[in-house]
Amino acid sequence: MAGDGSVLGLVGSPNREGRTYQMVTAALEGASRAGARVELIQMADHVVEACKDCLPWECQTTRKCAYPDAAFEHLSVKLLHCGAVVLGTPIYWWDTTGMVKYLILKMFRVYARSAPLAGLPAVGIGIAGGTGNGLVSGLRPVYHFFQMLQMRALEPLPVTRFNWGAARVRAGELGAALAAMTGARQPFAGVEERLLWYDGLPYLGLTRAAERRLLADLTTTALPGNADQAIPRGLAQADALAARGEHLRALQEVTRAYEAGVKVFEGGQG
Ligand SMILES: Cc1cc2nc3c(=O)[nH]c(=O)nc-3n(C[C@H](O)[C@H](O)[C@H](O)COP(=O)(O)O)c2cc1C
Repeated sequence: MAGDGSVLGLVGSPNREGRTYQMVTAALEGASRAGARVELIQMADHVVEACKDCLPWECQTTRKCAYPDAAFEHLSVKLLHCGAVVLGTPIYWWDTTGMVKYLILKMFRVYARSAPLAGLPAVGIGIAGGTGNGLVSGLRPVYHFFQMLQMRALEPLPVTRFNWGAARVRAGELGAALAAMTGARQPFAGVEERLLWYDGLPYLGLTRAAERRLLADLTTTALPGNADQAIPRGLAQADALAARGEHLRALQEVTRAYEAGVKVFEGGQG
């Protein structure tokens, strides 16, 4: 199916003007500046019901949920017809929100086999707006969705309170990149090409320890130049320990640097 050339932004948060809304809006503004038509949908207005596992598996052939679900009908039709999608989720407990997960699971059930979204350009944004934990793990279900539906996903955007400004800029750039891709979907030649494409995306393959190191990095790079020099020294020490195979001590050092960074950040915010 060819898309309609628009960039669709889905806000997977109950907060209508929260951080997810702001970051998805930044991506759509980038797409709009690049000449695309854009549409933003608050998923809170269309909360998909849990898949009830129709048996026999009729939705696979009818391509329609076997049970009445106006929210799924609305969102799936929008996805089927758009030219590109930005899916933003707040991070809840290092994972996506329930409303995002329910959409994903029902999309799998109805469309994973027929793959009508093959080649659809997509970007996932995860907003870990509290501690910042889960900034990558919460994006994995979103990118698993893109992969299973055979979409052509660009790099994920992990967002925390600490890298907010840089992330907004990147969201706009990714929105512009999506705008340039809305003309024609580019399906993968085969499953192997798709697997390698997804393996090539940044962040998603990080270990838990590397994710924490990334969080420490994002938390500390935005600090003012006169912030405590013990923080970068601590991170350098952590990397040296990790290089020597002392992973537990390294991670403890990362945590100390992260916590010191948060303290400075919150002091600066207050
Ligand atoms: C149930 C729940 C779980 C949360 N879990 C996390 C978390 O694991 N990591 C994190 O950094 N923030 C967490 N948060 C904070 C949200 O990510 C943060 O408030 C974010 O700004 C929400 O996006 P929104 O403003 O669009 O609602 C959680 C919030 C809630 C309500």
